[in-house]
Amino acid sequence: MEQIKILGISGSLRTDSTNTIILNTCKTLLPANATLTVFQGLDLIPHFSPGLEDNEAVARFKSAVAQADAVIFSTPEYAFGLPGTLKNALDWTVGTGEFNAKPVAAISASPLNTGGDKALASLLLTLAALGTLRNDHSSAAIPNIKGKIEQGYVTDIQTLDMLRALINNLTSLLNLRGVN
Ligand SMILES: Cc1cc2nc3c(=O)[nH]c(=O)nc-3n(C[C@H](O)[C@H](O)[C@H](O)COP(=O)(O)O)c2cc1C
Repeated sequence: MEQIKILGISGSLRTDSTNTIILNTCKTLLPANATLTVFQGLDLIPHFSPGLEDNEAVARFKSAVAQADAVIFSTPEYAFGLPGTLKNALDWTVGTGEFNAKPVAAISASPLNTGGDKALASLLLTLAALGTLRNDHSSAAIPNIKGKIEQGYVTDIQTLDMLRALINNLTSLLNLRGVN
């Protein structure tokens, strides 16, 4: 069975980020032949401007995406939108296409009962612009996230079931592409 490499991208830079905790929890829910590495260094990526050369941080990000079989995002919502850091990193890949045909899953999480749904909608629009591979089961907004975490992991049963379903769907998208 071929090894599946999944890249996790958190939209939050906070040390105690609930979104990074969601990605760390996903690590515990993977099939035996899959690994998930959470990308570090989104904050080192400079502001995108067309024509700028890739620096080392940009090259690292692009290479991590290119080498991954699939990507899982988990992002907060800031002021009803996507965190600028995440949108900025994605903008760097528009011209070079690292996300093109890449199977993705997108999660938003919030302490509010909206689950950060506006940030999720915005992320999905950007992922459509980037040509990623997704379906109707590739995304989920997680409301009231603070009460669903204990000791650095998601412990809420329904949320764990939802994350499992998201991962299963992601691997089925990979199978469509012939990676299994
Ligand atoms: C500047 C700022 C703006 C925020 N705006 C929103 C918002 O529009 N919607 C929302 O659901 N939460 C909002 N929040 C709360 C975040 O969802 C909350 O801080 C969350 O824990 C951040 O995710 P993290 O734990 O992964 O860092 C905002 C927080 C900050 C600091």
